[in-house]
Order: sequence, then structure tokens, then C-alpha cells
Amino acid sequence: MSRPVISATGLYTPPHSISNAELVTSFNAWADRWNGEHAEEIAAGTVQPKPHSSVEFIEKASGIRSRYVVDKDGVLDPKRMTPNIAERPNEEISILAEIAVKSAQEALAKAGREGKEIDAVICAASNMQRAYPAMAIEVQAALGAPGFAFDMNVACSSATFGIQTAADFVRAGHAKTVLMVNPEICSGHLNFTDRDSHFIFGDVATAVLVESDDRAKAGWSILGTHLKTQFSNNIRNNFGFLNRGDPEGAGKSDKLFVQEGRKVFKEVVPMVSQMILAEMDRLNIKSTELRRMWLHQANAGMNRLIAERVLGHEASEDESPTVLDTYANTSSAGSIIAFHKHSSDFKAGEKGLICSFGAGYSAGTVFVEKTA
Ligand code: COA
Repeated sequence: MSRPVISATGLYTPPHSISNAELVTSFNAWADRWNGEHAEEIAAGTVQPKPHSSVEFIEKASGIRSRYVVDKDGVLDPKRMTPNIAERPNEEISILAEIAVKSAQEALAKAGREGKEIDAVICAASNMQRAYPAMAIEVQAALGAPGFAFDMNVACSSATFGIQTAADFVRAGHAKTVLMVNPEICSGHLNFTDRDSHFIFGDVATAVLVESDDRAKAGWSILGTHLKTQFSNNIRNNFGFLNRGDPEGAGKSDKLFVQEGRKVFKEVVPMVSQMILAEMDRLNIKSTELRRMWLHQANAGMNRLIAERVLGHEASEDESPTVLDTYANTSSAGSIIAFHKHSSDFKAGEKGLICSFGAGYSAGTVFVEKTA
């Protein structure tokens, strides 16, 4: 049976970065405008005024300092508060596929592969921009890959679920080279008029090439994968073709991202740390053998707690690197950005963990070992 190997990764970072200060200035201008427009109801006590957001709160509560976006002007315009992303004609590549292809090109170049050598493409992300045809098939066509392609959505855990699916294809002999991409335009599903969450997300695309060990020249052996889901209403986005609502509406809209952040924090930390420890037990990996954890990037405090429960001591930046400060939460792509940016120093035989968690709830672990 072929063994799956991660042979390369790729990253596409959008050109525009928004600092917390810029985001808060625009939110506060929007809130002042809204309060002005509702001055009479506020004075009569029938509606509550919108309070200001704060840079200090954002950094302390989340660890986020800035985020990348595909469009900065629309997000920061207090009259708009949503990115300007023009609809494209069917003849043009869609924006999600476009950024996925950019990340894939880096992974392919690093592995010394061409599009025609890819047997399968999986587009694993939180929010697909349309129902069909699949974004993955568009990526497949753009890269000139034969074989098959499909989309899958497991919210923030999409990448680890995608890696396990790719690894299973390799193990079963259905494919030898699988491209798994995570294009995330989170600014499109974030409510920039919701003070509790307007700072959380950023845009990015990542790519992971999973290959059989007889084909991959070098990389990371996949030692074991484990997936888990458990229903929760604490992170939701109810937008859909049966129920489109008014995503432009001010304040809380369940047709965009909404969450009970505190509950997520409290429930997901034990779920994920227990899952990691159980999987380490199954794979016979001791915490002292774990050189690094590339965790999902949602909240710095959450990652600190999970890493501490797994390692038995407070994790250093070397043991659990952060990309959240500059990228914010990029949904499925977060742990892959961390892996992509912080893995080149590994020596053969060293082990690490890619781990995701998010809406569903959903969580996934991928233990890897550097090969020669
Ligand atoms: N600026 C200033 N104050 C704010 C604010 C903002 N932007 N947003 C919220 N606050 C206020 C709240 O109104 C609340 O005030 P109160 O105490 O008077 O009611 C206070 O700050 C604390 O809010 P809370 O939501 O409890 O903050 P928190 O410390 O839990 O941090 C999150 C919020 C979202 C950053 C944090 O809970 C989190 O990251 N959770 C995990 C989320 C996660 O992983 N989600 C997965 C998504 S894929």
C-alpha cells in the first residue's frame, strides 16, 4: 500500500493589509453615522446606541494585529462596510479559483511538478462562492490537470479533512498526486458592522500537495490523521440559496458569520486537546517527541491553552508558532499558513502536528514526520 506524503505547500497572500487601528476607525465612523441616523429612537430609549470598538480590546481578546484582504477600500468605507468584489463573467476564472491557483503554483514549483501530473484536486474551504460547477474543477482546468476534482466544506477544519481525504485516495490507490487548496475570502462573509466579530477574519489561499511515497521526492510522511465533529450552534452562517436574508443589513445578521465566542473558547479547548492527546497515544508519540504544533489560528489564548495541555508546559513560539497576528483568522488556511511558514528548519525524523478546529464543531489532526 502506498504511504501518503505532504510533498509541498503553497501560500497566496492578498496585497492589502488592514491594521486594527484602520479597522476600528472605520467601524467607529460607521457606528457614529448609525447613531446619528437613529438619534430619535436612541433618545426615546427604543434602540441602543452602537458602542465604539477598540484596538486594545481586539489585541488583548484575540492576539490579532492586522489582516490581509482582497479589497481594502470597500471594507473600510463606513458607508459600505463590505469588500468590493465585482461579479465576473463565466468566461473568466472566479476569484476563489484564481487565488487557489496562485497558491497551488507555488506548491507545484516546490515539488517540481506540473499540473498535468495531478490526479485529483480538492477545494476545501469554508465558503464557496457558488454552488456549482465546483471551484475545484475550475482549478483543475486552470492547471491542466486530468482526473477528478470536487469541493468540500468543513468550515475552519476543511484543510485537515481535505488532507485525510487526499491521504485516503493515495492509500487506496485512487490517486498518486492530490492537490488540496484552501481559498478563503473571509472578508466576504464577515459582518464588518458587528463589533463582536468585525476584527476576526482575513483573506488568503493555501495549497497542500499530498503524494504517494514512491512518487514524492521529499517531504513529510503522514503518520496518522483523525477527524471529529460534534454539532453546535455556537458558530453559524445561515446564508444559502433557500434563505438569503439581507446580508447588507446593519448589526447582527445570521446570514453572515455569527458566533458565541466565549462558548466556543470554553468548549473547543478541551475537545481539541483531548483529541490530540488520544491520537498521540494511538500513534505512540510522546509530547517530548513533538517538535512543533501548527494549530488553527483563531485566538492566541485558545492556542496557548491547547498547546500547554498537550505539551505539559507553556509552549514557546518555536513549539506553537503564531500567524494570527498578521493574518487574523483565515478559517481553513490558518494551520497551513503556520506549517508553510514555520517548517523549513525541520530535520529528518522530527515530528509535528497540523491541527484545525472550528464550526460544526469540527476538528482534525494530521501528525507528520520529516523525511530525508
Ligand atoms: N471592542 C471593544 N469591546 C468589545 C468589542 C470590541 N470590538 N467586542 C466585544 N467587546 C466587549 C463585549 O461587549 C463585552 O462587554 P461586556 O463585558 O460589557 O459585556 C466584552 O468586550 C467581552 O466580550 P467577549 O465577547 O466576552 O470577549 P472575549 O474575551 O470572549 O473575546 C473573542 C471575544 C471572539 C475574541 C473570543 O471569545 C474568541 O476568539 N473565541 C474563540 C472564537 C473561535 O475560535 N471561533 C472560531 C471561529 S472559526
